[in-house]
Amino acid sequence: MDRAERNAIFLAVGLLAFFFGLIVYAARGLKIDLPTCITDVQPFKTGQLIQHAPDRYELHVVARMWFFDMNKGQTYVELPRGSVVDIYLTSADVVHGFHINDTNVNLMAIPGTVNYARVKFDNPGEYHIVCHEFCGIGHQDMAAKILVK
Ligand code: CUA
Repeated sequence: MDRAERNAIFLAVGLLAFFFGLIVYAARGLKIDLPTCITDVQPFKTGQLIQHAPDRYELHVVARMWFFDMNKGQTYVELPRGSVVDIYLTSADVVHGFHINDTNVNLMAIPGTVNYARVKFDNPGEYHIVCHEFCGIGHQDMAAKILVK
């Protein structure tokens, strides 16, 4: 093995370690991780906002043609600033998308399964939610929002 070959191998191994480090940094440092599919929560039929503590909430969202049921049929919820929210998402009909602007939350709503993400709302404002999976004629109007006060 000559020197050029050895250098190339060192470079390749070094780059692999570097990229692996970036993945670990994204998952741990930046908290960018794969969404979780929950297997121990039964799919639910209605949206619901449940408060567990002054700044802890559980949000059950049902996506359906063509709106998001965020809380008993409403397409929005209000939360105080600093809230930590466990979001459980399912679909009542076809596959929908669920992206909350200005957050890392980007899930798929799939009939018969529940997907999960946790998000903390540090800044007040309107967080728009859009369906990003084509789901029929009303897809482009399928939206919701979270108001953080
Ligand atoms: Cu729901 Cu597109």
